[in-house]
Amino acid sequence: MIDYEVRETNRQYWDGAADNWFGVTALPEYGVLCVTEDELHLFGDVTGKRMLEICCGSGHSLVYQAQHGAGELWGLDISESQLRNAKRHLASNGVTAHLICSPMEDECGIPAGYFDFVYSIYGLGWTTDLPHTFRRLASYLKPGGTLIFSWNHPLYGRVGCVQVEDGKLVVQKSYFDQSDTRLQLDDGEMLLRNYRLSDYLNALADAGFVLEKLVEQTDRATLAATEGLTDKMRQAQMFPLSFIVKARKGVR
Ligand SMILES: C[S@@+](CC[C@H](N)C(=O)[O-])C[C@H]1O[C@@H](n2cnc3c(N)ncnc32)[C@H](O)[C@@H]1O
Repeated sequence: MIDYEVRETNRQYWDGAADNWFGVTALPEYGVLCVTEDELHLFGDVTGKRMLEICCGSGHSLVYQAQHGAGELWGLDISESQLRNAKRHLASNGVTAHLICSPMEDECGIPAGYFDFVYSIYGLGWTTDLPHTFRRLASYLKPGGTLIFSWNHPLYGRVGCVQVEDGKLVVQKSYFDQSDTRLQLDDGEMLLRNYRLSDYLNALADAGFVLEKLVEQTDRATLAATEGLTDKMRQAQMFPLSFIVKARKGVR
């Protein structure tokens, strides 16, 4: 069920904080100290492809797709401020895209059965209804079309779940705790849902997707680092901070 209060809290956060997130979490990066698209090539050849980005933020991933030859670009985001920044960034790179201001959970006029790719970089975890959102994303794809998304790994994104204390990793919060996390940041307040990895994979299967790849991989440089380790790097050497899913819309 859509949680309108959570969604509105987060919309207000993104509207107020958009300028602080310009170009953050965008392709070729997938996430936190995580392997990149330059290494993974999950999209393959996108020449001429119709692509829809969910939670497109400041538009940097859309520009990345344009630079790789995408044929038609659409971006959706809940925040008017993010889309204002995206318009500016796209224009300054000579890229055109259909931009839609809407929550991802809602019907908003995006054509059905139209896209070769639907993707989202650090966006889908914001949904307040995972099963409903995956069914909606499936409807946008052509049969056999591809969904790619990345998000915080639940061991890391479940704020405070695993922390570093005196150089050791300590589990401080249950993986099974699904209550929302309220985060007070310098630039506002957000509410994070706490989905488990199984919540994502089961919701994908229920929406008719076939899993092609699940990536849980810290980047090589972090894994090899021995000096100047931050807490985040120590964590990333022991478990993935982000995960990436590539799935195909099955034929039902
Ligand atoms: C981390 S940013 C994504 C950044 C993006 N990858 C980029 O290249 O700039 C997350 C985005 O999700 C959007 N968002 C949050 N909740 C949403 C919702 N329910 N529906 C649509 N967009 C949402 C926010 O406005 C924000 O722009």
